[in-house]
Amino acid sequence: MASLFRLKQIVAEEDRPPEHRLARTLSWPHLVALGVGAIVGTGILTLIGVGADRAGPAVILSFIVAGAICACAALAYAEMATMIPASGSAYTYSYASLGEIVAWVVGWSLLAEYTLVVATVAVGWSGYTHGFLEGIGVHLPAALSHGPRMVGWQVVEWGVNVPALFIVAVVAGLLCVGTRESATINAVLVVVKLVALAVFVAVALPYFNAANLEPFSPFGFTKHLGPDGVERGVMAAAAIIFFAFYGFDAISTAAEEAKNPGRDLAIGIVGSMVVCVAIYMVVAVAAVGALTYTRFTNSPEPLALILREVGQPGVATFLAASAVIALPTVILGFLYGQSRIFFVMARDRMLPESLAKVSSRGTPVRITVFTACIVSFFAAFFPIDEIAALANAGTLTAFAAVGLCLLVMRRRAPDAVRPFRTPAAWVVGLGAILGCLYLFISLPHQTQVAFGVWNLLGLVFYFAYARRNAAKG
Ligand code: ALA
Repeated sequence: MASLFRLKQIVAEEDRPPEHRLARTLSWPHLVALGVGAIVGTGILTLIGVGADRAGPAVILSFIVAGAICACAALAYAEMATMIPASGSAYTYSYASLGEIVAWVVGWSLLAEYTLVVATVAVGWSGYTHGFLEGIGVHLPAALSHGPRMVGWQVVEWGVNVPALFIVAVVAGLLCVGTRESATINAVLVVVKLVALAVFVAVALPYFNAANLEPFSPFGFTKHLGPDGVERGVMAAAAIIFFAFYGFDAISTAAEEAKNPGRDLAIGIVGSMVVCVAIYMVVAVAAVGALTYTRFTNSPEPLALILREVGQPGVATFLAASAVIALPTVILGFLYGQSRIFFVMARDRMLPESLAKVSSRGTPVRITVFTACIVSFFAAFFPIDEIAALANAGTLTAFAAVGLCLLVMRRRAPDAVRPFRTPAAWVVGLGAILGCLYLFISLPHQTQVAFGVWNLLGLVFYFAYARRNAAKG
């Protein structure tokens, strides 16, 4: 029993052999860019439409709720990442603070998160690519441009999302040949995304009409099932919109490469969150103010559609082109993250070490191809809201666990060195844990069931394989 809660000893940097130390080359502007690059993506560009469908104009409130919970999680991450600056993110913090079985559940949830985020962003990319191609007169057959449309478990229209398959294959291929996400390319693409959103706000805001915000909250606050079988409410939308905010956790994986981790990681994590919350609020107000929400809820490229509807087709094409160019960075970032989490779990012998083998070029080809195949299945055949909701379930588990790690470590090791100490630790920790719990119960019921089944499978694997192997490590 005790071995289930075995804690992992983190090897201090000075105790690692020199060849296992990473060069410390990143300072806080790189880390903020890294965070914003991973955060700004399909959430704000596409899921804002799904959010408006679930909450009406009150999706603005959903952004505030999800942003506040993520801010607590970001502060908890900042403290844990600077206290335990080792790769593996929430999985590693849980292994060091909460014990093996919790670490397993968190790691298993992270594998689902990263895989499904890649699939969601690929579907979002497909929506904007389709819109962009239409804008320049290229028409794809409808059945090959989106996955099946579903209501609940029921398929109402069949299709295969070929563009999403295409972008997953391209990015996975790049990773296999060893392309590194260079800080410079990332910074340029971050600027492309931010300029596109700034242009959207500048063009859409003058069309703001207060009448578009009426009725403000047609579906109320808490989640409830509508007559069409869809669960709606401000919280139901917040549970989906949550997708837009994460990615800052990717910064914690750069812990071993930060020049001054105590200061820079905290600025990177908290700074990128603050920047994104501010941007999202303005974009959300501009979007729901410019057009009645019901006219863009079902669009695969809602921000471009809003621009077209207000009579700005040229700007819509510019926005779509920016999304097509810049969204793959989110895919790249999360596909990388997936292989890192996989590596650390395999290094701990929780997963078969052979899968995480590195090719002669130094890239984890097997795991990248394996992940890409699974991602492709979800990207090709599932609607965006279903996969985003499932990705969120995995992330919420990880964020709640990091909140718990924060509180447990404050209790267990109150005097340990903490290069960054979050203010109001108990408010922050409990805010992250309870907020994530509330968002989790606001997810669609079928997502909760699917996530439960995934973790049950994970626990079977843990008791049949991982536990015995980890103990040998
Ligand atoms: N926050 C990232 C996005 O919205 C995952 O695409």
